[in-house]
Amino acid sequence: MAGFRLPPEDSDLSQARAPATTDLISDDDRSVAADSWSIKSDYGSTLDDDQRHADASEALSAATFPAASDYSSDKEEPDADTVASMLGFQSYWDATYADEMTNFREHGHVGEVWFGADVMEMVVSWTKSLCTNICQGQLANHVDDDKSEPDEKGDKSLVSWSVLDIGTGNGVLLQELAKQGFSDLTGTDFSDGAIDLARSLADRDGFTNIKFLVDDVLETKLERKFRLVMDKGTLDAIGLHPDGTIKRIMYWYSVSKLVAPGGILVITSCNSTKDELVQEVTNFNQRGVVAPQEPETPGNQEAGRDPPPFRFLDHVRSYPTFMFGGSVGSRVATVAFLRN
Ligand SMILES: C[S@@+](CC[C@H](N)C(=O)[O-])C[C@H]1O[C@@H](n2cnc3c(N)ncnc32)[C@H](O)[C@@H]1O
Repeated sequence: MAGFRLPPEDSDLSQARAPATTDLISDDDRSVAADSWSIKSDYGSTLDDDQRHADASEALSAATFPAASDYSSDKEEPDADTVASMLGFQSYWDATYADEMTNFREHGHVGEVWFGADVMEMVVSWTKSLCTNICQGQLANHVDDDKSEPDEKGDKSLVSWSVLDIGTGNGVLLQELAKQGFSDLTGTDFSDGAIDLARSLADRDGFTNIKFLVDDVLETKLERKFRLVMDKGTLDAIGLHPDGTIKRIMYWYSVSKLVAPGGILVITSCNSTKDELVQEVTNFNQRGVVAPQEPETPGNQEAGRDPPPFRFLDHVRSYPTFMFGGSVGSRVATVAFLRN
C-alpha cells in the first residue's frame, strides 16, 4: 500500500506461525519446511483470489525495516513486521514456488498475480502506451491512463523493444505483454522454482518464445541491456530483507546496468509511493553510477559527472485512492524512469 503501512491486525498474518528467528539470519537456509509458512499456505485454493491478493499486498506493505539486531530476540512468535520481512529472503520464495508448482501440477493454477489482475492489466496497457508514444517521438511526461488505442504502426513498433521482467515469479506479466505485441521477452528470478513455474505456464499457454533465466538482480550475470525493464513487486520484496536499505542501493546500481540508454524502467510498488520512488532515484542519481562496494577512484568519480542515470518520466494516475489519517493514498504506485 503506497505510503501507508498499516499494521495487518485484521490479517491472518498477525497469527501466522513463522520459523524460529535464527532461520531469518541466513539467505542460504533452504531447509525451511514448506508447511511452516502459513502466509504461503494461504496461496492455496482455500481463499478467494481477492482475499489472497489483499493478503499478499498487505504482507509486502506491512513491513518496515527492522534493525538486524531485532532478529537476535528470543521471542517465540515474531511480530507481523517480522513475518512480513520473510518476503525479503530467498528461502521464503523457494518454499512459495515449490508450493505453487505443486498447485500448478495438480490443479493447473497460475499462482499469485501480485497486486491482482486489474493492476497487472493497467500496468501492461499503460506501459504499451508509453512505449508507443516514445516510438512516435512523443516523450511527453504524461501517458493517458485510459489509453487511446495506439495505431497499427505503434503496435508494430513494439517488436523493437527488448523487455526484461526482473523477479518475474510466474511470468504471467510477460505473457500479457506478449499478447499486446511485445515479442523479445525475458524473465529472471533468483528462485529456481519461480523459473520452473514460469516456463511451465508459458509452455502450456503457447508462449514458447519467452526466455526465462535464474538470476539474482543484485548480482546479475546478464550482460545484455534491455530497452524496457519491468519490476512488479520485486523491489518491494528486496526492501523487506533486514539489510533492505543497502540491498535497495545495490538494486539501483544493478538495474542501471540493465536498462539500455534511452530505455525505460517501469516499477510497480505497494510499499513506496511515487514520490518515495522518485526521491530514491534522486538519491541514486546524486551518488552516480558507482557500485556501493567500489571505492571512489578518479575514473569512477568521472562517472559521477555523467548525466544522472535515471530521470522521472511518468506514473499511473488512475489507481483507486482512499483517505487515511487525513492523507490521500493509493494501494499501488507504478512509475516509469528514463535511462539517460
Ligand atoms: C512480490 S513477488 C512478484 C512476482 C512477480 N513480479 C509478479 O508481479 O507476480 C517478488 C518476486 O521477486 C523475486 N525476487 C526477490 N528478490 C530477488 C532478487 N534479488 N533477484 C531476483 N528475483 C528476486 C521473488 O522470487 C519473487 O518472485
